[in-house]
Amino acid sequence: MTEVRVAVLGASGWMGKVHTMAYQTFPHFFGQEGGTAKVVALVSSNPQAAQDLAFRAPDAKILQDWRQAVNDPEVDLIDICLPDNLHYEVAKAALLAGKHVFCEKPLADTAVQAKELAEIAQQMGVITRVGHAFPRNPVHDLAKEIIDNGEIGEIKMFKGCQHVDMFGDPLAPYMWRANGELAPTGIVGDTGSHVFSFMEFLVGKVSSLIADNFIVTEKRPIVDGVSLAAETSLSGDEEWADITNPDGTNLLCAFANGARGIVDFSRVATGRKFRQTYEIYGTKGSLVYNYDEVNRLRFYSNDDKVGRRGYREIDVGPENETYKAFLPLPNFALGYNESKIIEVAEVIRSITTNRPMWPTFETGHHICQIVDACMASSRLKRWVDID
Ligand SMILES: NC(=O)c1ccc[n+]([C@@H]2O[C@H](COP(=O)([O-])OP(=O)(O)OC[C@H]3O[C@@H](n4cnc5c(N)ncnc54)[C@H](O)[C@@H]3O)[C@@H](O)[C@H]2O)c1
Repeated sequence: MTEVRVAVLGASGWMGKVHTMAYQTFPHFFGQEGGTAKVVALVSSNPQAAQDLAFRAPDAKILQDWRQAVNDPEVDLIDICLPDNLHYEVAKAALLAGKHVFCEKPLADTAVQAKELAEIAQQMGVITRVGHAFPRNPVHDLAKEIIDNGEIGEIKMFKGCQHVDMFGDPLAPYMWRANGELAPTGIVGDTGSHVFSFMEFLVGKVSSLIADNFIVTEKRPIVDGVSLAAETSLSGDEEWADITNPDGTNLLCAFANGARGIVDFSRVATGRKFRQTYEIYGTKGSLVYNYDEVNRLRFYSNDDKVGRRGYREIDVGPENETYKAFLPLPNFALGYNESKIIEVAEVIRSITTNRPMWPTFETGHHICQIVDACMASSRLKRWVDID
């Protein structure tokens, strides 16, 4: 058994808290055979967070500068939960320092940066991982198994979406996610990348696309200390910030295997607290998934008798080893945080076995290529090819 020493960067934010919890929790479900993790450093630029961080990982160093963690010889794995614009710089420094790197999505602001990171990682011989945890819910392993078995035949169409209403209200306060400097690709890297991770996992590489990125609300009020989904009242004295990255995107795409796709995502879908769906249509059957029924896959097969055909609902349960690690009965459901625990368990197992597991920085590069193509296509108002 090997213990991996981890530094979590951006530790006081949403992802930082989830990742810190996941390192400490995963052996409860997966045992210690694949290795364990010790959170030895927590980094946050927010000095007020120090006390809270000390409670989360009692023996960890509490740091304000990520460089201290990256250069610390007692750290094996750098876990990046920082705003998007820092991912490239921090991941590059960590890789060059010989660390394994787990980086939240999107891996980088551009595909060129992401490619460079994937190449450095290969040269340094370290393990990498991008935080696309949604497809790691076992229900999507079932979808992949059905596809790989040829049970839906050749895939011809993909339809996917992801929407939230975080910015549905035109008065919802400004935050870094809407700042084109801190999050240069806006909703495309933020939310689109999740849909793209399903496309990459289940269908294959995208070869071309045409996208329309749009901003719905041009300015938002600046409110100090605002957090996601918090109810906020405005005093009327606020300053207003320009929104400088996309709120939403509609796109059409072609996959290298000939399938076609239609995808939409946004942060302005009023009333959609979190909507994530995909539909995959093949020559022999189809698969339909909706996050509202988080562990349920709908499967239609032409192999069924005429007159008895229809979508069957499959609730993933303990026949799946990953599900069984958490729960002994079907349909009790694994949610978001369990996906992150599965992800972290895989990161640690990758390191202790020196075996990369999907999605690596190479995957992150493919996804950044799709993000790049959306940004270019929308600007140029035409189809864009992806290498
Ligand atoms: N995989 C997912 O499902 C998922 C979900 C949410 C967010 N994310 C990604 O995770 C990353 C973080 O998002 P979040 O929602 O946790 O954001 P957040 O705003 O909640 O947290 C960011 C944290 O980084 C800290 N920080 C900012 N600049 C820093 C710096 N220079 N040095 C040290 N600390 C700094 C902040 O104090 C804060 O604690 C983003 O890249 C986002 O896209 C992924």
